Amino acid sequence: MDATNSSSSAAGFVSEDRLWKFLMDVAAYGATKNGGVNRQALSVEDTAAKQHVVSWADERNFQTFQDPIGNLFVRSEGTEPDLRPIMTGSHLDSQPTGGRFDGAYGVLAGLEALDALNDAGIQTRRPIEVVAWTNEEGSRFSPGAIGSAVFAGHNTLASVLDVVDREGTVFRDVLAETITGTGAPLRALGSVVPHAYIENHIEQGPVLEGKDLQIGVVSGIQGICHLDVVVLGEEAHAGTTPRRSRKDALSAAVGIIAALEELTTDDGDTIRFTVGRCEVSPGSPNTVPGRVHFTIDLRHPDSEIIQSMRSRIDEVAAAKAGACIVAVSDNLYVPPTTFEPSVIAAIRDSAKNLGYEYLDMPSGAGHDAMHLNAICGAGMIFVPCLGGVSHNEAESATPADLAAGARVLTDTLVRLANS
Ligand code: GLV
Ligand code: MN
Ligand code: MN
Repeated sequence: MDATNSSSSAAGFVSEDRLWKFLMDVAAYGATKNGGVNRQALSVEDTAAKQHVVSWADERNFQTFQDPIGNLFVRSEGTEPDLRPIMTGSHLDSQPTGGRFDGAYGVLAGLEALDALNDAGIQTRRPIEVVAWTNEEGSRFSPGAIGSAVFAGHNTLASVLDVVDREGTVFRDVLAETITGTGAPLRALGSVVPHAYIENHIEQGPVLEGKDLQIGVVSGIQGICHLDVVVLGEEAHAGTTPRRSRKDALSAAVGIIAALEELTTDDGDTIRFTVGRCEVSPGSPNTVPGRVHFTIDLRHPDSEIIQSMRSRIDEVAAAKAGACIVAVSDNLYVPPTTFEPSVIAAIRDSAKNLGYEYLDMPSGAGHDAMHLNAICGAGMIFVPCLGGVSHNEAESATPADLAAGARVLTDTLVRLANS
């Protein structure tokens, strides 16, 4: 079989309307009144979206599997089933006020590619598997991208089972409910190692839109460091306790955050520093706060810069803690990722083959592909999103751009699955 011809003919069967309808059908699970989705990991909405995918696969006689961390796989068999599969996908879980495309697009673009292959009458040499990874977002259960991390052997299943969300729900309990609710048979961790992994995603930034391009070929992902900071003070009466004798944990935390903002400000505006969660206890207007917990999300393309910032955080925090006690703990570190050159080359060839101008670009956001890249070659295909807006209910993308990315994906899948 001529891989180039079959790949381009398969891409020609990608349907913009079918993909858009599929995206809108899945966006109904956890739909919010502002047009976004709240489909957090291992919720009933997340499970319902997975059930939708299983029904889709059953209608087409594709096999489905789940692994013990709830990653869901849809398998299109190859003519040589024993070969390692080409894998593609992303995640179906969302931020609490998330958009309709972050994650879902990568999963549904993969399934659209399977429909296109079917319509083209093409069976590839290698199997193709489309995956929905568990808990990419990390907003309900921390850390994020845990499904792909466990799949890749970077974390153990045991290390996450006892994690609790803010309501006290234990990961292990809702994982069991999700696996039962999703209904696909179990497959052991480590039983399938992909030959290559490709992930489609909206860019989540403004670059492609600004250049009026439909396709980004992703070179890599910046490093990510997540920390938890706990500031301990002493609860006291707001009316009777003089300011100078207080141990006000929030007041100390405000000073610490301001100092860390300054530490992480660089001339090029490259360092990303975010405090996305700050919990104040007891959270009563007339009690001096006794405890504050806040998170730090720190990112940079250069691991040395992340490490050097990290090494100064405890000292800066302690210097601003005043009469309070501060403790910093590490929650996640994923070093910068450089994607596999041969997968990048295949994506570029597919874009050229289909006549799309593309941009080589890095990813500011984290993705499951960063874990897959360590066990098999990985690469990513970006498409523009409106105004670069993401992690926001207003997130939007056009059917034409989403279909363009699915065509490049389909072409690349056939190219790699016939290699
Ligand atoms: C995933 O959304 C990330 O944190 O980049
Ligand atoms: Mn995502
Ligand atoms: Mn996200």
